[in-house]
Amino acid sequence: MKKASELIASQKPWVVLTGAGISTESGIPDFRSKNTGLWEQYDPMWVLSTDALVKRPEVFYGTGLRILMRFENARPNPAHEVLAEWEKRGLVEAVITQNIDSLHQKAGSQKVLEIHGHLRSAHCMHCGNKYPMQEIQSKVQKREIPPRCSCGGQIRPDVVLFGDLLPPDFEKAQVLAHRFPMIVIGSSLTVSPANLLPRYARKLIIINLESTPYDYRADIVLHGKAGETLTALD
Ligand code: OAD
Repeated sequence: MKKASELIASQKPWVVLTGAGISTESGIPDFRSKNTGLWEQYDPMWVLSTDALVKRPEVFYGTGLRILMRFENARPNPAHEVLAEWEKRGLVEAVITQNIDSLHQKAGSQKVLEIHGHLRSAHCMHCGNKYPMQEIQSKVQKREIPPRCSCGGQIRPDVVLFGDLLPPDFEKAQVLAHRFPMIVIGSSLTVSPANLLPRYARKLIIINLESTPYDYRADIVLHGKAGETLTALD
C-alpha cells in the first residue's frame, strides 16, 4: 500500500480506467463476479446486443432495459468520491469508464470519458432526434415496443451495445492511455477493445477483488475492495 501511494505521488497525473467493480459498493451488481454477476443470470452479450435491439425488441426493451436501468437510484460510493477528490488535487488527469451509471459525474469528477456510452439520453435510429431516457421508459410502460420517434424510427438508448461501434470517447481514451500512467479499478479486463488500453500505459496499477489477465504486466496489483483500497491510499 505504501509503495502504491509513493508511486501515485511520484508519477502524477494518472488516467484511471474503471469497470463495473467500482460500482458494486453502490449496490449495482457487476457482470462477471461469481454468484452476484449478471452474467450468471442472463446472457447480457445477446440481450444487450444490436441483434436483440432490432430482431427481438420485446427482449431488449424488457429484460435488456431492466439490466441497463439496475442502477437508477444508486449513489456514488467512497471510491468514486476519492477519484473526484484526486482530480481536484491534480493526481487524476481523467477517468475512462466502461460504466454507464454516471456515478463518477455524480461524485464530482469533471473529466470522464464514457467509452460504453451512458443512459442519460436516447436517440432515434432513423432521424437521429435526441430524447431523454425517460421517453423510452414511459413508452415501454405503455407497451409501445419498440418505442417510436415522431418520424416512425425506433428510439434506443445512447449506450454501446454488443455489435455497436465505440463512441469518439474511445479514441480520446487511447490518446490518454498513451500519455499517462494508468490505474485500473474494478474491471475483469476481459472485454475488448477497452481491455487493450492498459497495454499502452507506461506505469500500471490494478485494484480489483480478483486476478485479471493483466496482473502480470502491472507495477502494482492490489486485491481488495475499491472503496476501502482507495480510501486507504488517500
Ligand atoms: P466485470 O463484471 O467483467 O468485472 C468486474 C470486476 O470487478 C471483477 O473482476 C470483480 O472481481 C471486480 N469487483 C467486484 N466488486 C469489486 C469491488 N468492490 N472492488 C474491486 N473490485 C471489484 O465488469 P467490467 O470489466 O466493467 O459492456 O465489464 C466490462 C464490460 O462487460 C461492461 O462495460 C459491459 C459488459 O459486457 C457493455 O455492456 C458494452
